[in-house]
Amino acid sequence: MSEGKNLSVEEKKELLKKLMKEKASKPTIHAKPAIENQVQGDLSVFARVEEFPEVQTLAAQFDTLQMLQVENPYFRVNEGIVNDKTRIDGRELISFSSYNYIGLSGDSRVSQAAKDAIDRYGTSVSASRIATGERPIHRELEKEIAEMLGVEDAIVLVSGHATNVTVIGHLMRPGKDLIVYDSLSHNSIIEGCVLSGARRIAFPHENWEELDKILTEVRGDYERVLIAIEGVYSMDGDIANLPRFIEIKKKHHALLMVDEAHSMGVIGPRGLGIRDYFGAEGTDVDLWMATFSKSFASCGGYIAGSRKLIDYLKYNTPGFVYSVGISPANAGAALAAARIMRSEPQRALKTQSNARYFLDKAKERGLNTGPSKDSAVIPVITGNSAHALILADALFKDGINVQPILYPAVPDNEARLRFFITSDHTEAEIDETVEKCANQLSRIRRDMADVAFPKSMLG
Ligand SMILES: Cc1ncc(COP(=O)(O)O)c(C=O)c1O
Repeated sequence: MSEGKNLSVEEKKELLKKLMKEKASKPTIHAKPAIENQVQGDLSVFARVEEFPEVQTLAAQFDTLQMLQVENPYFRVNEGIVNDKTRIDGRELISFSSYNYIGLSGDSRVSQAAKDAIDRYGTSVSASRIATGERPIHRELEKEIAEMLGVEDAIVLVSGHATNVTVIGHLMRPGKDLIVYDSLSHNSIIEGCVLSGARRIAFPHENWEELDKILTEVRGDYERVLIAIEGVYSMDGDIANLPRFIEIKKKHHALLMVDEAHSMGVIGPRGLGIRDYFGAEGTDVDLWMATFSKSFASCGGYIAGSRKLIDYLKYNTPGFVYSVGISPANAGAALAAARIMRSEPQRALKTQSNARYFLDKAKERGLNTGPSKDSAVIPVITGNSAHALILADALFKDGINVQPILYPAVPDNEARLRFFITSDHTEAEIDETVEKCANQLSRIRRDMADVAFPKSMLG
């Protein structure tokens, strides 16, 4: 007999919660791909994109926006530099939607450095660096990054996402290697894992004890093992327990990769990321990764580590060898931002104090901010996707731009607004935002308690 039979609605809800909790605390072990079946029937449907189920799902999502009478919150056009404020449709709003964490996108020194690099080297290096794309500014930037992290060298690539995909995808091998990654890892890490063809296991978020157990059990079955984590997790704003992961990596002879997209430039007493936050050694981590699109006010990504690793990647990684070098403007901006980051730690400290202020105020108003602590990412969890969407829409109309994160990006009951705090925000802007957010959310919960995404959309 099934466990759920003859239970009251409340008991069923409790049982469901318990089962979901149990599931979340277990590792996800991906099955080996099944052998494809012979395709039957009318093949022409596979040549009509509009009939692909995923394309039809997108159309249903647009219908949901209409049903809930909210504007589409995506692809809004920001008409200028986005810092604590933005301009959309001619209206000025307080913005919590950019990763301009320490206000360097729009900083005149960073903009000037990008312009100087264009004047000197042009707008494109037009080739892979291994061919004819190398410029002095590339090496200057890589040396700066390596110094910031206390490691021997670094390699810079054209995109943060592509950095993870190509590096993980290239270093790890099918049939021999294992990647164990945090279950809340960014898509770029997961895509890299998939590309590599190595065995993949997602350990429950931030659960290093479970990671230790997994490796105790299976480590011996593989040659190379990569542990992939993030400095700050971009959905929840919590910080990885780096010292524990370093211990585990050493114990199990694994490589450790840390994606610092949301931590570099923001956390730590000098704002130099998770290494700075915990006082770790640069050499404790094998692959330091980050993107230039956030605190570095540019575009691109890096891996920093030992000289041998970097040399190997420079001569072999497909996303570097077969792709153009980072543009002069982007390299110039990232280099200027890196130097400012090191010489003006007060920027990161301001972001940190603004985030603390936001968090304290939000908690005072009873908002659910999840596990966010000491980072610039603060979620406000609404408990259902429709409420998150309606709340973001109400705040937008009320002068605050913040993005909703909805099912399927997160489970429906963890739908949220995600606030990215910057050094430019003022206490008055934070006060106004928390006040409006708390008031609107109570109103929505009171007046729209039954409003939810249609069941058909919730998988
Ligand atoms: C954790 C993490 N890694 C990698 C990336 C990809 O960086 P980019 O957007 O600069 O390509 C992001 C982007 O948001 C991210 O959050």
